[in-house]
Parts: sequence; C-alpha cells; structure tokens
Amino acid sequence: MMYTIALISGDGIGPDVIGPAVEVLDAVGDKYGHTFHYVELAAGGKAVDAVGEPLPAGTLEAVKQCDALLLGAVGGPRWDTLPGHLRPERALLGLRAGLGVFANFRPAALFPQLRGACPLKDEVLGNSDGKPGFDLLIVRELTGGLYFGERGRRDGNRSAFDTEAYSWDEIDRVLRRGYDAALSRRKKLCVVDKANVLESSRLWREVAAETAKDYPAVETSYMYVDNCAMQLIRNPGQFDVLVTSNLFGDILSDEASALAGSIGMLPSASLGSPDETGRVRGIYEPIHGSAPDLAGKDTANPLGAILSAGMMLRYSFGLEREAEAVSGAVSAVLDAGLRTQDLAGKSGRPEKIVGTKAMGEGVLHFLENF
Ligand code: IPM
Ligand code: MG
Repeated sequence: MMYTIALISGDGIGPDVIGPAVEVLDAVGDKYGHTFHYVELAAGGKAVDAVGEPLPAGTLEAVKQCDALLLGAVGGPRWDTLPGHLRPERALLGLRAGLGVFANFRPAALFPQLRGACPLKDEVLGNSDGKPGFDLLIVRELTGGLYFGERGRRDGNRSAFDTEAYSWDEIDRVLRRGYDAALSRRKKLCVVDKANVLESSRLWREVAAETAKDYPAVETSYMYVDNCAMQLIRNPGQFDVLVTSNLFGDILSDEASALAGSIGMLPSASLGSPDETGRVRGIYEPIHGSAPDLAGKDTANPLGAILSAGMMLRYSFGLEREAEAVSGAVSAVLDAGLRTQDLAGKSGRPEKIVGTKAMGEGVLHFLENF
C-alpha cells in the first residue's frame, strides 16, 4: 500500500528526531512492502520566521490531503515574547482543531530495561497485571475545554479569564475512545476530573455514567485530579486507561512521563473520527517538545518520535504487525544497552551512550529481526 505522510519537523530538536523516525518508517516500508510518500510542511517558529504566522493556511490544507501527520516539536525562546496569536504553539492548537483530533493518546509504560531511570522506589513502583512497573494510557480530550473556551481581559486589563466548557457530545466521544482502548487492554477506565468543585466535571461524570453502559466489560472509576496526581507517584500500577480534560491531561501526562524514565521516550497519537472512507485522521508526535538547548547537537532521544511513527502505523494505517516490529526494535535497542544522554547511567549495567543518529541506526538494525 501507499501512504502519504505530512511531515512537520518543526523547531528545536524536532528535525533531529524526525530524521530517524522517517528512516524507521522507510525500513518498515521496505520490509513489509509499503510505500510512504512524505510531504514536508512548515509550521511553528520556522513558519513565523518565513511567512509571519505559525500555521500558514496552506499547511493545514496540505495536511488534510495526507493520510497522517508526523510532527517533531514547535517553539523556542526566540518566539516566546511574541503575542499569543503569533506564538509557535498556536500551530499545534490550530492543527488539532483544524484536523478535529479530539482524542489524544499518551501511553506511559516503564520499559523494564529502564527501571533504574524511574524515580520511584521498588515498594512504590507497584504492579500492572502482575508485572513490576506500570503501563497506563492517558486519553486527553484535545480540542475543547480551557484551551479553546472563551477568554479575554476586562476591567481595563486588570483582570483576565479563561473558560472550561464541555458539551455532552464532546465528552462522550472522547470517553468512547478511552473505552475502546480499555477493551484491548486491562479493561479498567478511570475518569479524572474535579467534580467536587467544577460544574463541567460534574457533567463529565453524568456522561460517563451513560457511556459506561455500552461497555459493561470495562470497570469504570472516578478520581479527582489532585488525588490522581498523588496516586500516579504513589502507585502508578493501579491505572490502566485514564480519560480526562484537555488541561488535566496536559499536566498528568508530563507527570507520567517522568515515571517512564525520560520524557524523550514517550510518543503520542491524536485521533479524530473516521472519515467516509474509514480513514482515521491522526497527528503523531513525541511529547517532549522542542528542547532548544539540545537542537542540532545529535544528543536528543529519538525513541519518542520513532514510537510515535509506530503509533501511526497502528492507528492510522491499521498495520498492527508493523507497529509491533517498531516497538520490538526499540525494546531490543534498549536490551543491547544503547542509551541517549537523557537515559544514561541509570540501568545499573553496561551501557553504550550514543547520539540521536546512532540510536536511530540501532533501531534500524534490530528491525531486521522482526
Ligand atoms: C503538549 C504541550 C502543548 C499543550 C503546548 C506546547 C501548547 O504542552 O502537547 O502537551 O499544552 O498541549
Ligand atoms: Mg504538555
């Protein structure tokens, strides 16, 4: 099959990590008989510099013509003083809204090889499914809530407001994505909210009580977000799928990434509804951001980007075997002791510290075995 992939490598370490991810995709294509055709597009700081806006209309239109989008990162100190509508981050929000990708999957699991990179003690680390460690999936609502609610200034600029607003349908559709994911996992779903204070959270609970009826095989629970932040570091193994609002998901996913050893390891997939042809629109990006101090130095960890490409194979193209090959090769490269700087010195056994490119080549090497 032939797939067209939009590439926005973006700012900072974006291009460093997208390079190896594309090589991995090409190797998967060669091995399994698929052709990936890439359309390189500009967004973020680069687009601000080139055309004066973070998300040129042409970029969004071109992305819509593609089967999926692989994105590196956007942003950096150069653009931090620009007004809100010109900041590179606006490109992310515009792409998310423009593509309608309302469900953001942020899996966080501990590779056993990276046990030493997880800051939790053995007795705290706990279990998931009888195995030491944790394997959870945060499903973050991505196109609503505080990020997109009404906002503004008043009282002559002496006061400002943002609004958290959710409709029944917005909550229901993201919950369903969470339930579908839970069905192929450990069948537990926790709705994370602040229903003791927020009216919008109370609606989340009402919707969940209804939606849950369609998923009798999944055990539904509810947790306040402050407690969840604590439970994540007290006993992450208790969680399977967490479904939550845009802002809460943003915060909790950074917390979860620290437990996985390095934010450089974590991929993400942002998914919309299937179109008429059954194709699921998706944005795939590592969650680490642009890390400008590491840009161009061949030190960034490309595994989050490579695993994001793997998620693309699974969720947008339905290539399960190919996606498994990518995660298998990443696990093998860790078994072999290859570590980028962010993971260095934490495995308690011989390690080979490598740069971005060598880590990518390691993955290519092990891909042969799958
Ligand atoms: C993320 C990031 C973005 C967000 C920023 C860069 C706008 O933190 O993807 O988690 O808040 O969604
Ligand atoms: Mg974030």
